[in-house]
Amino acid sequence: MADKRVTFASKIGIVAAAAGSAVGLGNIWRFPSQAADGGGAIFILVYVVCILFFGIPLMISEFMVGRAARANTAGAFNKLASGTPWKWVGRLGVLTGFMIMGFYMVVSGWTLDYFFQSISGSLSRVGDLTAHFGTIQANPWRQIAWMIAFIFLSAFFIVSGVKKGIERSAKIFMPLLFLLLIVLAVRSITLEGAASGLNFLFRPDLADVKSTLFLDAMGQAFFSLSLGMGCMITYGSYFNNNTDLAKTSIQVSTLDILVAILAGVVIFPSAFALTANPETIVDKLVAGGPGLLFITLPELFNQMPLSMMWSALFFCLLALAALTSTISLMEVVTLYLHEEYRISRKKSTLLVTSGAIVLGIFSSYSALFFNVLDIATAKFMLPVGGFFICLFVGWKLKRNLVLLQLTNEGELPTRAKLLKPYLFLVRYVVPIAILSIFIYGLAG
Ligand code: TRP
Repeated sequence: MADKRVTFASKIGIVAAAAGSAVGLGNIWRFPSQAADGGGAIFILVYVVCILFFGIPLMISEFMVGRAARANTAGAFNKLASGTPWKWVGRLGVLTGFMIMGFYMVVSGWTLDYFFQSISGSLSRVGDLTAHFGTIQANPWRQIAWMIAFIFLSAFFIVSGVKKGIERSAKIFMPLLFLLLIVLAVRSITLEGAASGLNFLFRPDLADVKSTLFLDAMGQAFFSLSLGMGCMITYGSYFNNNTDLAKTSIQVSTLDILVAILAGVVIFPSAFALTANPETIVDKLVAGGPGLLFITLPELFNQMPLSMMWSALFFCLLALAALTSTISLMEVVTLYLHEEYRISRKKSTLLVTSGAIVLGIFSSYSALFFNVLDIATAKFMLPVGGFFICLFVGWKLKRNLVLLQLTNEGELPTRAKLLKPYLFLVRYVVPIAILSIFIYGLAG
């Protein structure tokens, strides 16, 4: 029986695991810069609207496909629509996950490297942090070593299994991450001069709004919520029959937004309060990218008493956020090999680990390769995946199956009211929105 397949043990574990996947470098690294660059409060508002109207429906859809099929991403489409080309949507998802790992693991390796430099105290003794980061970038072997360490760390939780590895790690790491984030946020807003940073981040500035506001916000929403490649299909396949899909999606999205905003509250006030160059700090914050996390922030930490401790806390936070996300990416590919090719979980993990290392070595050596993986997945493959997942649930799945999933076979009768608006969103609104991203992107 299908029910012999493992599921997560608890409601909290389910939310923690899915939020663990969603909360990652995307929240801490990309969101604050994008918000500052795109008009502050206006970007944040549009971002929240995108999550409400596109992100949450797509997340519900992924959970639904996963739980209805109780299979890996490719297997799920095969089970629900066997003998049709829909399985290619699942396969594309697995490939996308593999490619995201290829660059995400490299950045995750940097976070580990900087964490250890923080606790050893060496980071606080570096005079020129720009040159320091440049030296690291020019040294592929150092990056490769840390990346491999990070891949092994993720693999450890994958071989430990769904309950003991994925769920348990998320249940420990997510609260820890929140705690670190709150400690850092309190420290940041109590620095003298912090208010100007908050004002900058939350200013509703129409003059800074770009023509790509909507697209930027939507792209960020999908990436940040881990949507479009079946991460949430895979996790959904471990949900319990009584997991409330709609409520879980809302909880996960809320946590994800909260972490993103808190990350901004950590970064901006401290940047404004501590900078020695007020003229250039805005440019650096807005430019974002690796420079922000690995140059600007350590520079700021070095201005603070106990700099070692603050930077250790910050890089620990980053590494944890990255880890629960890489675990989810790795699980997608591992479960695919495990179920589709009947390879043991251990062997599948070994294969995925080796593959990720090979890709990671290429992206450590070549910035071009790194960028190609980044852009091809985030700008192309994820939206394509999201588009088809919505169409699949909206048009291919039986309306009754969708209803049974939303209401947990009638256990949650009030959820039946969601059916119509939900179907309207996944049939028309989300696909059209994604399509317009494309047309706009191609035209630009
Ligand atoms: N959401 C994670 C972040 O914000 C990254 C991530 C994990 C992801 N799994 C994904 C992004 C699947 C897209 C698709 O950093």
